Amino acid sequence: MTLRLGVNIDHVATVRNARGGPHPDPLRAALAAEAAGADGITAHLREDRRHIRDADIAALRKHLKIPLNLEMAATPEMRDIAVKMRPHAACLVPERREERTTEGGLDLERYFKVLQPFVESLYDVDIRVSLFIEPDMRQIDAARAVGAPVVELHTGAYCEAALAGDAKARAVQLERVREAARHATQIGLEAHAGHGLTYDTVDDIACMPEIRELNIGHFLIGEAIFVGLEPALSEMRRRMDKARTAIVPAR
Ligand code: PXP
Repeated sequence: MTLRLGVNIDHVATVRNARGGPHPDPLRAALAAEAAGADGITAHLREDRRHIRDADIAALRKHLKIPLNLEMAATPEMRDIAVKMRPHAACLVPERREERTTEGGLDLERYFKVLQPFVESLYDVDIRVSLFIEPDMRQIDAARAVGAPVVELHTGAYCEAALAGDAKARAVQLERVREAARHATQIGLEAHAGHGLTYDTVDDIACMPEIRELNIGHFLIGEAIFVGLEPALSEMRRRMDKARTAIVPAR
């Protein structure tokens, strides 16, 4: 029933890269998150290297004690890097150069033939693969057929509805995530969730017993500017744990 917190450190690298020097160092942020109780670190090595770079992944791999989740597109270049770096997990995401962030989930039905051998090649070297998908039943069924043990449900639409103050859309999107998490678990997949989560939106997701891990980045790094990374992370964790304790165990 525990809910893991993966901290995404991409935006520390975004700030570093704005000036071209070494500061602020994403590894330092990752180690601070580790010390503050993060269960894992997530970093997205984009094709254009707009934030995380290859050397960051090597440094994270060398110094972290908690698991590293490498977010990546399903390209031959990224597979070679993953096979060399051996992160604990790899989260496959769609990637378009012109997008500001990962805007949608993978279309598993469309890319089935590419993804199936891709997932297998990571499985062969003991990398646990998750597929970042919309909370959609067909995508979940396809994820199982592709052979991944984990799906990460995209919470972007839910968080956007919350940000817009649209209570009805928020409830609709939340229900999509809930049903998707249930369905994933029922067919034997582990359900994770992430994208856009904040103090305001985390509780409703954290109280879903099927969800085992949340990956949160932008809000935590932004909040750290005001209060520091440790307090921001502790507050997120407090809210996750509180939501979790409200779950009534199934009989
Ligand atoms: N999970 C995945 C697969 C993502 O692509 C991202 C964004 O990089 C996140 C989680 C974290 O989203 P955010 O930075 O909005 O918290």
